Amino acid sequence: MTERIVLAYSGGLDTSVAIGWIGEAAGAEVIAVAVDVGQGGESLETIRQRALGCGAVEAYVADASDEFANEYCVPTLKANALYQGHYPLVSAISRPVIVKHLVKAAREFGATTVAHGCTGKGNDQVRFEVGIQTLGPDLKCIAPVRDLALTRDKAIAFAEEKGLPIETTKKNPYSIDQNVWGRAVETGYLEDIWNAPTKDIYDYTATPEFPPAPDEVTISFEAGVPVAIDGVKVTPLQAIKELNRRAGAQGVGRIDVVEDRLVGIKSREIYEAPGAMALITAHKHLEDITIEREQARFKAIVGQRWAELVYDGQWFSPLKRSLDAFIEDTQKYVSGDIRMTLHGGQAIVNGRRSDTSLYDFSLATYDTGDTFDQSQAKGFIELWGMSAKVASGRDIRVAGK
Ligand code: ARG
Repeated sequence: MTERIVLAYSGGLDTSVAIGWIGEAAGAEVIAVAVDVGQGGESLETIRQRALGCGAVEAYVADASDEFANEYCVPTLKANALYQGHYPLVSAISRPVIVKHLVKAAREFGATTVAHGCTGKGNDQVRFEVGIQTLGPDLKCIAPVRDLALTRDKAIAFAEEKGLPIETTKKNPYSIDQNVWGRAVETGYLEDIWNAPTKDIYDYTATPEFPPAPDEVTISFEAGVPVAIDGVKVTPLQAIKELNRRAGAQGVGRIDVVEDRLVGIKSREIYEAPGAMALITAHKHLEDITIEREQARFKAIVGQRWAELVYDGQWFSPLKRSLDAFIEDTQKYVSGDIRMTLHGGQAIVNGRRSDTSLYDFSLATYDTGDTFDQSQAKGFIELWGMSAKVASGRDIRVAGK
């Protein structure tokens, strides 16, 4: 029986050419798998037809946009996950859901190998292959660009020679990856890290320098999940889309960073994640009033570690699963409303309310109604500083010898 290979298919030039390229190199039949994670653009049916036109024996398209929002974006939001303090893991969280569908398709169509279009220099190859090893340990992985010498020039020549139904002339100098959680742009002009991004790079966000009138929005959460916007019930997918639109119009969520890739390279990336950044900001502010201090401090550490694990391709790992359990436990009381103003590139919270809040007006107030017993502060401070005071006494003693 001819070997069958499942290919992660985007509909673009490289993966379109990869269908025939792998077929020839490996003498295998190729099944193209396209996954909708809210990237927009062409319809899945158009992509499916192109895959078949390029020689795929089967083309499987999965509408995973709600699955992606519920099971990948929402956990990222609950973790307030920002890799290196900046990056909301746009591409990193899409790989595991794509992997899930690749492995499912491999089972369904009797494939022994999974192929993806990543190069050998990035994080995504790691995320795909570690994910596949975990969910389908019997499956092999190949990357035609990395393993079968499928360069851009060869891809164009191959497409023209075979008359593939794909445009080869449109020259985009950037490498772009996008989904409903955000958009990532790299390479070309941006590789000089002193070069400021030009306006044409952006798509999800408008220029914040010339914003429309301020937009005030109220986001309601239940146990850490966004459930309503301005009082209108929404699914997580709808919440992200609505805020992509409204925060995007105000230029919120533009990020320009040099980040540490897992493979040891520092690389420059431009992100736009208006919905994600507005949601994370609102969610964090709701946590500030609903999560107890020590739990909150520890959660920040857990969230950072969670972001590193996910960035590093460990979505399906035991540690990630354990951290998820901790984070989930912290979300029990993260319910209530956050009001924020979106304007000129910023999402600024200006009101919060929650039935499960820990904010106690009678403890906080400096006006009448104060129930805080200030006389207890003196003794508390004496004991709180005791340990450091004893140590500093020792330091003075030793230095004086
Ligand atoms: N640097 C990001 C990450 O590793 C995005 C990778 C894909 N970026 C791209 N422009 N194609 O998660």
